[in-house]
Amino acid sequence: MKQENKPVHGMWANRWVFILAATGSAVGLGNIWRFPYITGENGGGAFVLLYLLCIAVVGVPIMAAEVMIGRKGGMSPINSMRKLALDSKVSQRWSGIGHMGVLSAFLILSFYSVVASWALYYVWESVIGGFQGITAAESGARFDALLADPWLMMGCHTLFMVLTMVVVGRGVKGGLEKAVEILMPLLFVLLVVLVGYAATTPGFKQGVSFLFAFDFSKLNGQAVITAVGQAFFTLSLGMGAIMAYGAYMPRETVGKKGGKPQPVSIMSTVIIIALLDTLVALGSGVAMFPLIFSNGLEVGQGPGMMFVTLPLAFGQMPGGVLFGTLFFVLVVSAAWSSSISLGEPVVAWLVERGLGRGKAAALVGLGAWLLGIGSVLSFNLWKDHTFLVGTFFDNVEFLSTTVMLPLGGVLIAIFAGWVMKETHARKELAMKSFPLYLVWRALVRIFSPAAVIALFTYTIWKMVFPDEAVAAPEPVAQEQVEAADSAAAQEESEAAEVIEAVEQEQGEADVPAAPAESDVPVVPEGQ
Ligand code: TRP
Repeated sequence: MKQENKPVHGMWANRWVFILAATGSAVGLGNIWRFPYITGENGGGAFVLLYLLCIAVVGVPIMAAEVMIGRKGGMSPINSMRKLALDSKVSQRWSGIGHMGVLSAFLILSFYSVVASWALYYVWESVIGGFQGITAAESGARFDALLADPWLMMGCHTLFMVLTMVVVGRGVKGGLEKAVEILMPLLFVLLVVLVGYAATTPGFKQGVSFLFAFDFSKLNGQAVITAVGQAFFTLSLGMGAIMAYGAYMPRETVGKKGGKPQPVSIMSTVIIIALLDTLVALGSGVAMFPLIFSNGLEVGQGPGMMFVTLPLAFGQMPGGVLFGTLFFVLVVSAAWSSSISLGEPVVAWLVERGLGRGKAAALVGLGAWLLGIGSVLSFNLWKDHTFLVGTFFDNVEFLSTTVMLPLGGVLIAIFAGWVMKETHARKELAMKSFPLYLVWRALVRIFSPAAVIALFTYTIWKMVFPDEAVAAPEPVAQEQVEAADSAAAQEESEAAEVIEAVEQEQGEADVPAAPAESDVPVVPEGQ
């Protein structure tokens, strides 16, 4: 296959570099921060299963579609789509998907930087030994103190945004390639250490049960749409980030020792990325939930979960200062390589319009930084100013992640499945197995759009008629709080007793926060 177009923005050296960069984009706060806390809020196991399902049948096919469109177009998402629309003789308005992606990028980048900056601050806390011997209550208070300080948060937010835009401004290839090569494997190792520590805590079994006991009675419409949104968010789909990276992906392998170059298959590459991403998310959950149960914390505590639970682990394990520092450095790095990919599609587009890369990055960074101030204030000065789904931060997060990403993803799927010339798509995907190609095609043409649109209609219905919408999730949430409260009351006693107490109090009731052991057949022995 000949190289049809030379990307303006450069090329990844080979397939592995693309995998690393895309994994760098995918693995981030979505896995380590967001996945555990929304799993806690949505009752555990059944939500996890739903999330895995969304990754497999919606996420992977759409990711393949994004990479395919990107590689075919070779430019920023907006212009790649414009080009492919032209090639397929359809309206160039399809590039509007890319424009919506630009808006999503600003929204996500703005709050993403704020959360990443908490991790940045926690690097410092860890270095000075701030977690040593900390109790659950102290850990919660420490996080609250950070949130209450708008200036501190502003400083960290500014620093993180500058870090991101410096890399984007220099061109994604240069620094990023080398950074992810070292940081990604290290992050895996550190997660294994944390999971190992979690395994020594008394709440381990209960934590794992919470994650993997699939009880569907706990699911509701809101949980389903959250799972879909999370699948898009964690795989960086729906706004063109992966499409932009796909544009720099080579079509052929460099022939080994004079061997013939092989076509680089998109599907197998995408599956590797999705697997790595899922592994990190599940690993983070297994590292955190046992600590929640061991320390009588609340499963549905929300965005602070990672920042309250992990310091407990670092405060108690040997070498905690070192491991804690290293871990938060890695979280910041993972967030960094993700936020870079949020900036890249917009900056690439501005560069194609004639702006210098540096200037374009500065402009995008400034815009997202300004918007991010709203998120900073949402935790202190504007805490009580709530509208629609909550604070400014809650709204930006909800609108971008749960609404715009799935919408963008569906439009991308429709573009790949219905609008683009079929031969173009098939050739670009270069799949070895034809039946598998047909499966992909059915998924992007029919299944993904139908599933996401149905869920959307349902969610909007529930928003218009909110009575039923709150009625469904409430019993679960209420029980969680009660379970956690009763656990907290026992904080002094042994963790084993806590678990027992919760179980006794709940009696026969099926409670996600404290599933009775007999309720959990799915958990493998020895976990
Ligand atoms: N996937 C990243 C994470 O899980 C976040 C992210 C990076 C992202 N680029 C994106 C989310 C593009 C949506 C779209 O942390």
